[in-house]
Amino acid sequence: MANSEAAIIVGFWLWVCIYMTKGLNAGEVTYDGTSLIVNGTRKLLISGSIHYPRSTPQMWPGLIDKAKEGGLNCVQTYVFWNMHEPEQGKFNFEGRSDLVKFVKLIHSRGMYVSLRIGPYIEAEWNFGGFPYWLREIPGIIFRTDNEPFKREMQRFTEMIANMMKRENLFASQGGPIIVAQIENEYGIVEPSFREGGRSYVRWAANMAIELNTNVPWIMCKQPDAPNPIINTCNGLYCGDTFDGPNSNKKPKMWTENWIGWFQVFGGAKHHRPVENIAYAVARFYAKNGTFVNYYMYHGGTNFGRSGGPFITASYDYDAPIDEYGNEREPKWSHLKDLNTAIMRCSQTLLSARAETFSLGSSQEAHVYRGHSGQCAAFLSNMNPTSGVTLNFQNMTYSLPAWSVSILPDCKTVVFNTANVNAQSKTHNLTSNNPQRKLKSSYFLSNKEVEKGFYWETFKEKIGGSEDTQFDNKGLLEHINTTKDTTDYLWYNIRVDVDENEPFIRSNSSLVLAIGSHGYAVHVFVNDHFSGSAHGNKSNPGFSLNLHISLRPGKNDISLLSVMVGLPDSGAYFERKTAGISSVMIQGFKGGSRDYSQELWAYQIGLVGEKQNIFTKNGSRTVNWNPSISDQHLTWYKTTIDAPEGDGPISLDLRSMGKGQIWINGESVGRYWIIFLVPLGDCSTCDYRGSWNLKKCATNCGQPSQTLYHIPRSLLQPTGNLLVLFEEVGGEPSKISLLTDLKNY
Ligand SMILES: *[C@@H]1O[C@H](CO)[C@@H](O)[C@H](O)[C@H]1NC(C)=O
Ligand SMILES: *[C@@H]1O[C@H](CO)[C@@H](O)[C@H](O)[C@H]1NC(C)=O
Ligand SMILES: *[C@@H]1O[C@H](CO)[C@@H](O)[C@H](O)[C@H]1NC(C)=O
Ligand SMILES: *[C@@H]1O[C@H](CO)[C@@H](O)[C@H](O)[C@H]1NC(C)=O
Ligand SMILES: *[C@@H]1O[C@H](CO)[C@@H](O)[C@H](O)[C@H]1NC(C)=O
Ligand SMILES: *[C@@H]1O[C@H](CO)[C@@H](O)[C@H](O)[C@H]1NC(C)=O
Ligand SMILES: *[C@@H]1O[C@H](CO)[C@@H](O)[C@H](O)[C@H]1NC(C)=O
Ligand SMILES: *[C@@H]1O[C@H](CO)[C@@H](O)[C@H](O)[C@H]1NC(C)=O
Repeated sequence: MANSEAAIIVGFWLWVCIYMTKGLNAGEVTYDGTSLIVNGTRKLLISGSIHYPRSTPQMWPGLIDKAKEGGLNCVQTYVFWNMHEPEQGKFNFEGRSDLVKFVKLIHSRGMYVSLRIGPYIEAEWNFGGFPYWLREIPGIIFRTDNEPFKREMQRFTEMIANMMKRENLFASQGGPIIVAQIENEYGIVEPSFREGGRSYVRWAANMAIELNTNVPWIMCKQPDAPNPIINTCNGLYCGDTFDGPNSNKKPKMWTENWIGWFQVFGGAKHHRPVENIAYAVARFYAKNGTFVNYYMYHGGTNFGRSGGPFITASYDYDAPIDEYGNEREPKWSHLKDLNTAIMRCSQTLLSARAETFSLGSSQEAHVYRGHSGQCAAFLSNMNPTSGVTLNFQNMTYSLPAWSVSILPDCKTVVFNTANVNAQSKTHNLTSNNPQRKLKSSYFLSNKEVEKGFYWETFKEKIGGSEDTQFDNKGLLEHINTTKDTTDYLWYNIRVDVDENEPFIRSNSSLVLAIGSHGYAVHVFVNDHFSGSAHGNKSNPGFSLNLHISLRPGKNDISLLSVMVGLPDSGAYFERKTAGISSVMIQGFKGGSRDYSQELWAYQIGLVGEKQNIFTKNGSRTVNWNPSISDQHLTWYKTTIDAPEGDGPISLDLRSMGKGQIWINGESVGRYWIIFLVPLGDCSTCDYRGSWNLKKCATNCGQPSQTLYHIPRSLLQPTGNLLVLFEEVGGEPSKISLLTDLKNY
């Protein structure tokens, strides 16, 4: 280390000391190697992620109360830039975007807030949280040392920080925000940007510090986080895998403890057994950790088109509070017991450091001894297959395989991570057939309140409306053509066929060969549906070869390209492309014809979208047909009454194909039923050993999501307009409305 560097480091810690001393007087939040310190008091923090746009303001109080009752003292959320600034300079902080209201509610319950401003957030959210317009700024490159990007990032971050200050929401002002995050898991992409990445990290750190929020800043998955930013862990086993903060003067924090996993269309449901989570959390607090955040504590719903690529409308995440706002048992109760046990140790954990003692080949004790004689211990059995009986301080303890016992007084076990005492009503996690067990419990108590609605239909125009088409030579890129105003883009071409083509008489098949960068396409030849294809989360692109029949003269080929969320991750994700990339017809007399560079007619979005036919007024602008006709590209409309009671409501769409749902004009999400989970992607729910995505997955051979959340607050008692746009076809007569969703 050069002398100058040493001088800078010494200078820095001197500054931290002064800053901290000042902090103690001013009510600021500071930290040291043990913990965050709020207005002079050390804090042991148990946090849970609840993302405000993934539920409704009407649900927020109940969710926050359940978090508090579940033993949390902090709520963590991202800030969703593209919700707040959908158009550059035009802001939205209303309804589900009312960040200030959400933070104040948490404050009113006496809880703290961890605010992850990002503003890059990933979060399985459309474009990783960035507004579409950001991509169109000339010369912009996301998340690197790029002036246009840094200017916008700084402007938004400053705006959020100033808004929080104006409302006195930072802890230094008496508010609940005790920590803030800049960037998000940047360490993963930093090497792709080389020197630009390293200087961007320093810039982001300085920019955040200069906002003078008087709360510490964190960067997750960022081992080189510059001082005084705290680098934190995201993962499954941060107690055992995290190298720790990059200075022993920073506390050990776990910002994302993955409680389950998100679901993609075509992907299984992932369940992380609560014994496994509890084990991981206990290990972290056993080893000097003082902040753990459950990601997610309530996952919620990706309403509208807010989900990221191939992400389901449900963001349930197998969280302790399910998508609908109910406690998921035994997860919620077991974690409550765990959180209570950890909190009983808090004074000791905050006043001492963990000493480790071996108790066997894969057994150990972590013991905290305070100056005034307090003692707390964690006994771990890391053996994944066998339980043990062991001796600790002259006493005998039995520990099941892969478990941790918590002893707040170093004598009495108040909690063991593998003993689920909470009233388990549902999952039998040791069952060999988790799928059947889990599935039956999902639907057991759901009450089907209505079925067989009276549907009217409106047929979407194949190829779009001639009035709104425009031409372009060659195939346009989907994302920068639609600018994320819709999922849909029509590519239309008229193909001339000479009547002397031999295939017309002999019917030798023609093949329409389509290449696409993603994500799905529906093909129509002369207004008749000919076929569909789609990619998947890991491979959005695909190709499709379709046998088609053409007639002599003019033939219309119309391709409806469909997106399911903009890219949300990876270096240079702003450059990722989608849409049709090549179109050929093979089998003509003269060989193949390539139409990729020809003149195409385009329409952005659907006629029904342009007319807003999912709104009460818009629905009056078209003629609805009382009979259910051709199933492709059909709008369905009905009127529903709110089911009795105040429980959550869901639409069972298992009889349908793919599309989007609107209730009283508001989109509540995309659905996709026909894309099934591959057989063989499921596995038993064993909690022992290192859990991974393959370890407890259900739903094979089934659609990823069949039940779709309709927030009760969107419904009037009667006369609610329910509209679906169905791309493929299905049986709307079998759609039903469910309520009393429990153990979903
Ligand atoms: C910090 O603590 C002091 C002493 O307990 C108290 O008077 C002050 O109001 C607190 N400041 C804040 C911002 O909570
Ligand atoms: C806890 O921190 C102390 C002091 O830094 C250190 O000596 C000890 O090894 C740490 N324990 C664990 C389990 O990381
Ligand atoms: C354990 O027992 C031995 C012998 O009886 C005694 O010397 C020792 O102090 C005891 N240790 C503790 C922690 O109680
Ligand atoms: C759970 O399943 C296992 C294996 O099928 C069975 O032995 C056990 O009795 C079940 N437990 C409960 C509480 O149903
Ligand atoms: C749209 O994207 C394509 C592919 O990345 C690119 O070639 C084209 O220049 C872009 N057009 C506009 C208007 O940005
Ligand atoms: C013509 O080709 C189509 C598509 O391959 C096939 O379905 C149809 O039966 C054929 N018709 C005749 C008369 O061979
Ligand atoms: C995704 O698509 C690729 C390419 O078509 C295929 O190889 C892969 O099996 C698919 N993955 C899943 C999970 O369906
Ligand atoms: C719907 O139409 C009514 C009557 O024409 C009008 O008063 C109202 O403003 C319209 N609402 C919207 C949202 O356009």
